[in-house]
Amino acid sequence: MTTPATGPRLSVPAPFRDAPWQADALRAAEAEIAVPTMLAPEERQFYYWAARDWARGEGALVDLGAFAGGSTARLAAGAAAAGHGAVIHAYDRFTAKEQTKANVLYAAGVPPFEGRDILPLAQEFLAPWAAQTRFHVGHIPDLGWPGGRIELLAVDAAKIATTTDLIAAAFLPHLIPGRSLVIQQDFLHWSQPWLPAQMWRLRDHLRPVAFARRDTVAFLCTAPITPEALEGARIAEATDMELIEDIRAIRETLPEDWDLTRRLRRTIAALRANPGERIAWKMRPAPPPGS
Ligand SMILES: C[S@@+](CC[C@H](N)C(=O)[O-])C[C@H]1O[C@@H](n2cnc3c(N)ncnc32)[C@H](O)[C@@H]1O
Repeated sequence: MTTPATGPRLSVPAPFRDAPWQADALRAAEAEIAVPTMLAPEERQFYYWAARDWARGEGALVDLGAFAGGSTARLAAGAAAAGHGAVIHAYDRFTAKEQTKANVLYAAGVPPFEGRDILPLAQEFLAPWAAQTRFHVGHIPDLGWPGGRIELLAVDAAKIATTTDLIAAAFLPHLIPGRSLVIQQDFLHWSQPWLPAQMWRLRDHLRPVAFARRDTVAFLCTAPITPEALEGARIAEATDMELIEDIRAIRETLPEDWDLTRRLRRTIAALRANPGERIAWKMRPAPPPGS
């Protein structure tokens, strides 16, 4: 059975409904992880909670866009605390520009270093969990997935619409229905309008279950991701108007108390302000209304 083109507001199932990743004890445990990250505090807590309290070791934990290992460390520490033995896969080019190094790494106390290579740094940061961690270095669609079930898939590297389709094709078929979570870290970032559109197109397979401020929405896999589902979810060739219709449609079904209407309006405004653009770092924010 397929869901209607627009639907009523979705409810949030247990245990997500109570946002257990916001609990004081969990916050304190996550705060012990001293690996620099671009994630916001609640997002860090969600990654840690998902690996510790949601995952059961039924599949791998995959981090697409690990940077210096901050998000991977939250997954690895959560898995270690749970003791379920899941393997954590960190994907990235593991390179960084001087400005990013300064903003994220030096600002967190990493001594300045020459060059763009941050793989040695990520390996050093993730050394406490080395036995459970695998590094995949390069362009994610070229690397692909070696195979096996994926229980958590964190996506923070879908910065280009074509890459977003290729990531979906390589990783989503390995999700476990009823169990796997897809953590879309950039779902609410105005510069990646193709993400809410893609998730709307996958609504019969991935149901939104959690919102973690700033930008993360997580989805529970409810049905196998088939070749037909992937074909219907391709967004790289979608027109601006098609993306806008998809974003509006998913906006109308997201749980009301997440209060994301304004955020997704901003995404639509950015798309209108950057016609045809499908690369996040080339997008410019929309001018404020009335300016
Ligand atoms: C916002 S950062 C990730 C931040 C990280 N999750 C953290 O906790 O700090 C996005 C990362 O995705 C990586 N990335 C983007 N596109 C990629 C691609 N096609 N292949 C490999 N890595 C990619 C970048 O190198 C960058 O490190």
